[in-house]
Amino acid sequence: MIGSFDHIGFQRHSRAFRAADLAVDLAGRVCLVTGGNAGLGRATAEALAKRGATVHLLCRDAGRAEVARDEIRRTSGNARVELALVDVSDLASVRRYVASAGLEKVHALVHNAGALPPSRILSADGLEFTLATHVVGPHLLTSLLATPLRAAGDARVIFVSSGGMYTQRLALDDLRWDRRSYDGVVAYAQTKRMQVVLAERWSRVFAGAGVSVYSMHPGWADTSGVQTSLPRFYKLTQRILRSPAEGADTVVWLAVCQPAPTPSGAFWFDRKARDTHYLPWTREAQATRDRLWEECQRFAGLERSDR
Ligand SMILES: NC(=O)c1ccc[n+]([C@@H]2O[C@H](COP(=O)([O-])OP(=O)(O)OC[C@H]3O[C@@H](n4cnc5c(N)ncnc54)[C@H](OP(=O)(O)O)[C@@H]3O)[C@@H](O)[C@H]2O)c1
Repeated sequence: MIGSFDHIGFQRHSRAFRAADLAVDLAGRVCLVTGGNAGLGRATAEALAKRGATVHLLCRDAGRAEVARDEIRRTSGNARVELALVDVSDLASVRRYVASAGLEKVHALVHNAGALPPSRILSADGLEFTLATHVVGPHLLTSLLATPLRAAGDARVIFVSSGGMYTQRLALDDLRWDRRSYDGVVAYAQTKRMQVVLAERWSRVFAGAGVSVYSMHPGWADTSGVQTSLPRFYKLTQRILRSPAEGADTVVWLAVCQPAPTPSGAFWFDRKARDTHYLPWTREAQATRDRLWEECQRFAGLERSDR
């Protein structure tokens, strides 16, 4: 991972990048970024705004988000940066947002919001917080936005996962952590594994509809999330971390590159589709993958007609 996930890795991999891929005029395109007020989400939002998109920041804290919105408007020179107060872990908040936003077309939906809590927290709906924020909330948001995503003609849905997911298999037996002693790093990595499987499934749901779905990992980037959630890791790696813009590069590339990168459903790192397993014991059965979808549908309170 050293020499790959870090800044050196980005420099090495980026030699193969084509600058023209990001030279895209996004005027008229609507892009949604959850957790767009900080770290990678903010870097993503800024890059999209600089290319002329209308960017909606979906954030949970009004104070932090207003400051970020104003700064992104200033640095991008784009006034079409909007703010919506959404707590992705709270299903009622997600539903309220979609009902009130009245979006006719969505060209990019970036599921970036993420956290690694030190102890078990339950969401407003009684779900473990990383499951709610990384998996169930994004699942509901994707489902409720299916019509405007299809209407865009060329839309991208991107799950910002993590390289940490390589350490975990798809584990669905104790999703609330009632029977295990809570480990935030494991909960985080397990839900990041779920995002990868969920993206593959959504890509099949949207196949042929002009909606590409991806998961990706950003490598190791210097953000406040890493500084506060992984202080020891940060101390060891801070000199070699990527900048937020470097970490966000593949998110932006997946959102804007023309034509849409293929295959839809794949897991990406530094603009390349990558294996989803390096350890044999992390491989899951199709039945477990199907069960993840069913659990997401159930937790999100989705009826068949919402799919
Ligand atoms: N940085 C890395 O090296 C790295 C590596 C692998 C994966 N990632 C992934 O990249 C994504 C961004 O991480 P980051 O490093 O930029 O973290 P960060 O600096 O902590 O930013 C996380 C963002 O998500 C928001 N957020 C968290 N929970 C939310 C919720 N329930 N509803 C709405 N917004 C919420 C935060 O809002 P507040 O400001 O209100 O807290 C913040 O805007 C995460 O999904 C993370 O797992 C990052």
